[in-house]
Amino acid sequence: STGEPIFSDLETQTHLEEASALLSTTDNVVAFPTETVYGLGGNSFNDESIKNIYKAKNRPADNPLISHISSPSQIPRFFSVEIPEIYKPLIAKFWPGPLTILIPNVSNSQISQFTTAGQDTVAVRLPSHPIARALIHLSDCPIAAPSANASTRPSPTLASHVYHDLQGRIPVILDGDNAQVGVESTVVDGLSSPPMLLRPGGVSLEQIREFGGELWKDVVIAKKLSDDSLEPVKTPGMKYKHYSPTAKVVLVKDEDSIAEYIKEHGLEPDQTKLALLTCETFKGENFQGIVQSLGKSKAEISSNLFKALRYLDEELNVELIFVEQVGLSDEGLAIMNRLQKAASENI
Ligand code: TXA
Ligand code: MG
Repeated sequence: STGEPIFSDLETQTHLEEASALLSTTDNVVAFPTETVYGLGGNSFNDESIKNIYKAKNRPADNPLISHISSPSQIPRFFSVEIPEIYKPLIAKFWPGPLTILIPNVSNSQISQFTTAGQDTVAVRLPSHPIARALIHLSDCPIAAPSANASTRPSPTLASHVYHDLQGRIPVILDGDNAQVGVESTVVDGLSSPPMLLRPGGVSLEQIREFGGELWKDVVIAKKLSDDSLEPVKTPGMKYKHYSPTAKVVLVKDEDSIAEYIKEHGLEPDQTKLALLTCETFKGENFQGIVQSLGKSKAEISSNLFKALRYLDEELNVELIFVEQVGLSDEGLAIMNRLQKAASENI
């Protein structure tokens, strides 16, 4: 699994070479596909490149970035540290894939302080998407990449989402089709004792406990789960002003409460465009608006979640989206984490 993908298609190869030249020889940023969501990449070693990521996203530079690699053997070469033992079973099982680990940020490391936002750890991930891996391999540097959305928008799972948010602000978007996993990577900290889950994502808590070995059986979920992919709507009025049109999201436990909510809020379905995203059980039979299924399995639901929110918001200009809640097992923890951040109300 450490051999780099080679593209026989000349056009793809040319685009990859152009993009990697931008990353290795200039301060430019490049949007690229990963299996989780699209990333907005810069050279982890280059201060100006990292500053350009924050500028393009319009996000304050206080949140550390994940550095993406294409082979585990790059860890000592790029970060001047060996892979800590505690991660070895997880790496063997989940790399390449949606798992991010924290390693020590040593003083002789070449990594930019803007990449780590001054932390004493570096977040590292080896993505499985062949375009991502080829881009990193050709660039021969770690690629720091947050999700390629404008700040406060859902993470992009299609190249068209990146284009929607960042057109005119970045030179290149590599189109690698649909991001299959659909939610960001799981971030774990094995340097703390007990080890911690910092952000639920594409690898589930159950999988970490099952495959991580003895030490990961005691993994603790961080109290304040870190994820900026969908900021909670703290002041809806402000969000509407700055990012309109932005649909309001209401998370629903019991399908019967939707009709009550509509009545209580005096909503007229012919005046307010409504939508309902169903998951495992809701039927949407009497719903006066657009009804769309996110899928029947949690894997499908996470894969479709951001795409569906963007479609309803950006293409159909829906004003209010009801979403069926899911249970917290397996992919459910990551799904509910993202939904709670998107939602302004739970009913
Ligand atoms: O799937 C993903 O992880 C995507 C794709 C592009 O790889 N990237 C992504 O990046 O979601 P971003 O910037 O949206 O989220 C990075 C997360 C944040 O929650 C950040 O706080 C955490 O990783 N993080 C990064 N470095 C860290 C560090 N040194 N210590 C603790 N948390 C860190
Ligand atoms: Mg993000």
